[in-house]
Amino acid sequence: MLNRYEKALERIAGKIRKTAEAASECGIIPYQSAAGKWITSPYDGNSWWTGGFWPGLMWQLWCLTGDDFFRDEARRAEKLLTDEFRTFRRLNHDVGFMYLLSCGADAKLTGNEQAETDMLHAASLLMGRFNPAGFIRAWNEPDRVGYAIIDCMMNLALLYRASRDTGDPRFRQAAGVHADTTLREFLRENGSVSHIIEFDPVTGRRVREHAGQGYALGTEWSRGQAWGLYGFTLAYRHMKKPQYLDAAKRIAANFTAHIRPDGLTDCDFCQPPEEERTDNIAGAIAACGLQELAALTGDETWRHSAERLIDGLLVHCADFGEERCGILTRCTASYHDDGAGRHTNIVYGDYFLVEALMKLCGKDPGLWS
Ligand code: GLY
Repeated sequence: MLNRYEKALERIAGKIRKTAEAASECGIIPYQSAAGKWITSPYDGNSWWTGGFWPGLMWQLWCLTGDDFFRDEARRAEKLLTDEFRTFRRLNHDVGFMYLLSCGADAKLTGNEQAETDMLHAASLLMGRFNPAGFIRAWNEPDRVGYAIIDCMMNLALLYRASRDTGDPRFRQAAGVHADTTLREFLRENGSVSHIIEFDPVTGRRVREHAGQGYALGTEWSRGQAWGLYGFTLAYRHMKKPQYLDAAKRIAANFTAHIRPDGLTDCDFCQPPEEERTDNIAGAIAACGLQELAALTGDETWRHSAERLIDGLLVHCADFGEERCGILTRCTASYHDDGAGRHTNIVYGDYFLVEALMKLCGKDPGLWS
């Protein structure tokens, strides 16, 4: 008999199988479900940082079901993403998310050599953003030359992979420099992490912290906490530096202390209590990181916290209705800017929900390694 997580995966695969055909027919990379349709990202076309999550979702479901529709749909999106290499100037540090879950997954799961080449191309773009003063540059605006962000801890996975596949240590060395800076400058006493730190791009000296997608300067944007949790866990897995594991545990302890009684995740752990604003993507990402942490440490309490998060999402916010496209609801891109979605379905919520469920069922293909 299927357990509740296997049942959820079966229902998700069935619904996405039907709705993905519409995305394929109109030639888009889905960003979110709206008015019964998949629609594209609100900014930057296929260079928007989320473009890898749709093919990543397809690869997860291909591994789950063996249905080649999912492989073909992943490759359709992969082609659109590799076309973006030509525009280049709109790509940023998020090439990790974009190309590891598309080309990287294809190369890993099927041995596709062109996909491996494209993934290494993306890793070289990420290396091109490395500032030897100590960090990977996040964005492209001329007044943000010294900006680094917590999300980048996830993008480092592309560099670990590139070093492993090429035998060239430079990629992981750059990742280590960035991770050390993040450890020193982003991690706070209480186990929370900052979203954005600006550095002097010449000396590497810290200039200031900036408010990002959370409630206010100095608060705890929950998705940033989840990126830090999962990112430091992956850093420890690949680099074996005990300080990264310690950081992951501290961030995890702070995150799990803020899981709501209903299992959902507030958009910011410091938001005013009267404001009901959730970001369920944060909970889904954290559920992935917590399971990796449990696997690395043998401490099952992290896995139990992951189950609390996923149970909350499945009970309250999983949309299996056929009249809409996506699955996970009440996702919020940014606390104060609703342009990229507030309390709605967003595709990377679906991606991390499925990754977390695959891990819970022992079927995770390990796309970050
Ligand atoms: N990496 C950008 C975000 O989490 O919104």
